[in-house]
Amino acid sequence: MGTPGRSGIIRKPNETMRLIITTFVGVVFGFFIGVSFPSLSLTKHLPSSLLPSIDLTYIEDKNSGLSTQTLLHAWSSLKGNRSSSNQAQNLNDTSKIWVPTNPRGAERLPPGIIASESDLYLRRLWGKPSEDLTIKPKYLITFTVGYNQKKNIDAAVKKFSENFTILLFHYDGRTSEWDEFEWSKRTIHVSVRKQTKWWYAKRFLHPDIVAPYDYIFIWDEDLGVEHFDAEEYIKLVRKHGLEISQPGLEPNRGLTWQMTKKRDDSEVHKETEERPGWCTDPHLPPCAAFVEIMATVFSRDAWRCVWHMIQNDLVHGWGLDFALRRCVEPAHEKIGVVDAQWIVHQTVPTLGNEGQAQNGKAPWQGVRERCRKEWTMFQGRMTDAEKSYYKAMGIVPPNSTAH
Ligand SMILES: *[C@@H]1O[C@H](CO)[C@@H](O)[C@H](O)[C@H]1NC(C)=O
Ligand SMILES: *[C@@H]1O[C@H](CO)[C@@H](O)[C@H](O)[C@H]1NC(C)=O
Ligand SMILES: *[C@@H]1O[C@H](CO)[C@@H](O)[C@H](O)[C@H]1NC(C)=O
Ligand SMILES: *[C@@H]1O[C@H](CO)[C@@H](O)[C@H](O)[C@H]1NC(C)=O
Repeated sequence: MGTPGRSGIIRKPNETMRLIITTFVGVVFGFFIGVSFPSLSLTKHLPSSLLPSIDLTYIEDKNSGLSTQTLLHAWSSLKGNRSSSNQAQNLNDTSKIWVPTNPRGAERLPPGIIASESDLYLRRLWGKPSEDLTIKPKYLITFTVGYNQKKNIDAAVKKFSENFTILLFHYDGRTSEWDEFEWSKRTIHVSVRKQTKWWYAKRFLHPDIVAPYDYIFIWDEDLGVEHFDAEEYIKLVRKHGLEISQPGLEPNRGLTWQMTKKRDDSEVHKETEERPGWCTDPHLPPCAAFVEIMATVFSRDAWRCVWHMIQNDLVHGWGLDFALRRCVEPAHEKIGVVDAQWIVHQTVPTLGNEGQAQNGKAPWQGVRERCRKEWTMFQGRMTDAEKSYYKAMGIVPPNSTAH
């Protein structure tokens, strides 16, 4: 990666992109450290005299474990010293800042300096920061892609105007090849091998990072978008008050759910009839309050909730579709399918082939089994969590939550 630390160097777009990703990953990593050790913030305990001595150029140039090592060293030497008396002292000393209403971990900062949310907007290395952004996209579209699907993704991305930030998650490690497309230069590429859409979403789409976006599209790579217009879609979603939605699916391709089938006679639909016995309640999945997870669109608020529901060890997301309703109220009115802007699900077994042959079973079989296992685990956890909640509250659980 050359010597990116030297100031004022013009980088090739390729390197810029890599740097962006590196930075981004760094930020996310930092965030997780923060989350994992909430009571032990590094800067909180570092004597201020120590800070200037960390040479940023050095860190960047070496780009090695050394800097991390230094930090970890400083950290561990301070670790034994988590003095609660220190905190109490501070609480009493009015000259020291302590604002309990600040975001967790940032209580020592004056509220005016806090930037608790971020964005995915690309900035320049020169000029006035206030003039960096000529446009602030209001929507985010993410695709989880392998290079083999490039034609499809190229067609899909072209359906999204400059009002969208485009973010590609690459599961096959091939990113530079995409530069053949003009749009690739303004795209954010995140490359981590053999991970799934929900794995990426949990790690890279934290609600505080995607906060500027009104709507967040989290899409698969095998969708045909010939009959889809993104701006029109958003108009309909707003008009019908949909917090979680998906485009209708073209009916002729092995559909499993009635709900997500495209209808010819409506703009949007929010409920359906299923096969007899499939729905315990007409307002519950799969008859209402239900969309699938292949082409889901979330409002900012809905995503803030759904992000918290995504479990870190469950990657395929099976069962999530049945649970989305927990994030909006009333779910049967705020979850729906947009018929007027519809897509074709091409069912290309893509990630399935990224599995591993085991015990004489084909890779896709292993993936399929894991999908089912995850679904069971997720249901179990949800049921347990709900039971504990009602028990703690001393309430008899209502029947309708049994799902
Ligand atoms: C803990 O803090 C005290 C002063 O508050 C200091 O004397 C001591 O060396 C510190 N211990 C460690 C392990 O840093
Ligand atoms: C805080 O200040 C009050 C009054 O100034 C004093 O009574 C109290 O003991 C102090 N608490 C601590 C933890 O220092
Ligand atoms: C982008 O958004 C603006 C403001 O909502 C709108 O006027 C414009 O038509 C949009 N661009 C496209 C290509 O639809
Ligand atoms: C809840 O379910 C139980 C048994 O499954 C039934 O006896 C009861 O009437 C149900 N309550 C409601 C409010 O539907």
